[in-house]
Amino acid sequence: MVKQIAILGSTGSIGRNALQVIDALGPGYQVVALSAHTNVQLLAEQARRYRPAFVAVTDTDCAPQLGKLIADPDVEILAGPDSLADIAQLEEVDIVLAAVVGAAGLPAILAAGRKGKRLAIANKEPLVIAGELLRKETEKNGGVILPVDSEHSAVFQAMQSGSPEEVKRIILTGSGGPFREATARDIQNATLEEALSHPVWSMGPKITIDSATMMNKAFEIIEARWLFDMPVEKIEVLIHPESIVHSLVEFVDGSTIAQLGEPDMCLPIQYALTYPARVAGIARELRLEEIGQLTFAKPNLDTFRALSLAYEVARAGGTAPVVFNAANEAAVEEFLAGRIKFVSIVEFIEHCLNKHSIKATVSLEELLEADAWARREVTELACSV
Ligand SMILES: NC(=O)c1ccc[n+]([C@@H]2O[C@H](COP(=O)([O-])OP(=O)(O)OC[C@H]3O[C@@H](n4cnc5c(N)ncnc54)[C@H](OP(=O)(O)O)[C@@H]3O)[C@@H](O)[C@H]2O)c1
Repeated sequence: MVKQIAILGSTGSIGRNALQVIDALGPGYQVVALSAHTNVQLLAEQARRYRPAFVAVTDTDCAPQLGKLIADPDVEILAGPDSLADIAQLEEVDIVLAAVVGAAGLPAILAAGRKGKRLAIANKEPLVIAGELLRKETEKNGGVILPVDSEHSAVFQAMQSGSPEEVKRIILTGSGGPFREATARDIQNATLEEALSHPVWSMGPKITIDSATMMNKAFEIIEARWLFDMPVEKIEVLIHPESIVHSLVEFVDGSTIAQLGEPDMCLPIQYALTYPARVAGIARELRLEEIGQLTFAKPNLDTFRALSLAYEVARAGGTAPVVFNAANEAAVEEFLAGRIKFVSIVEFIEHCLNKHSIKATVSLEELLEADAWARREVTELACSV
């Protein structure tokens, strides 16, 4: 049976890697839908090459240009923010690869989960803000969530060595980003160029900044909490600059199971597509004798305040994670535009969390309200500096 795939965010770093993985997997995997936000040139190129039945462009203003570039009656063009959910729910789609950046991916992932699709999720922000809802709705409708984030793919694989009750702790590894050895004082004047220079991974701009602040690892703590239904007290972070051990699970008998591989997103993407099978693909072979040494250290919680905030936010629950995420998205946008300092990102997030009155149980509407409030709050803060 040919597996039909919809890629939400095919023009991004994960989306482009996914298309390479699909090329290598061969005729058993077919692209049925692709999406972009504004990059219609690349989306049109991808459409010409993969001949999907549907393409979606979420920025409505870009639709006329996309229509001219594709001009193929066999490719249906959908436009606007809702077009993501439309392609995610298509009857013919078996696997939805969620590779959009930010909370914008939430409605489409939720819709696909409710249709019982196989969800290969790279787009971590929806898991942070509505992980419990997504997991419950997907399971209830016969779907499955497969993590694409390399750390969570590693944990998912390690978890297969025991039952959830036998897990003592989950250890998420992180490269430490460009400021791994910096003190809180060193990062006061960090520039955009420094923050965008990730020492190991080549990724989209937003997640690269999240890695520099370690908000990315903070999100991963909450992501793991929901994906594996584990209390945050059982989730720890270790800095591992070589990024070879992608994460570990320690069981109650003292055994620790890890997954290793080259730092290459093609491997976790492929595993999410082929699971439970393992097949030869394009991921680079791991040669430990060439690497020689693997190192691990505790993160510096003074420099990376985001990590401590993640535990507080996860324990608080309700609307706290959505404020945590939305404030970060807005602050990263301000930083990328050169309007605020690097350290202001986490300061603004903390300000929003302190000012916000958390609602314990929340509907999707209330989540969206809290999201909008945090974004407005950050914009006001940015204007006042
Ligand atoms: N990159 C990695 O190695 C990596 C690893 C683990 C997890 N992740 C996660 O995977 C997700 C994607 O990361 P990335 O690095 O691939 O990001 P990216 O390179 O910035 O790509 C983002 C994709 O989403 C689309 N997009 C942007 N804004 C959108 C919106 N408002 N509505 C709908 N689509 C939108 C973009 O379209 P345009 O191209 O038209 O702007 C692009 O296709 C993120 O959640 C990230 O945290 C990434």
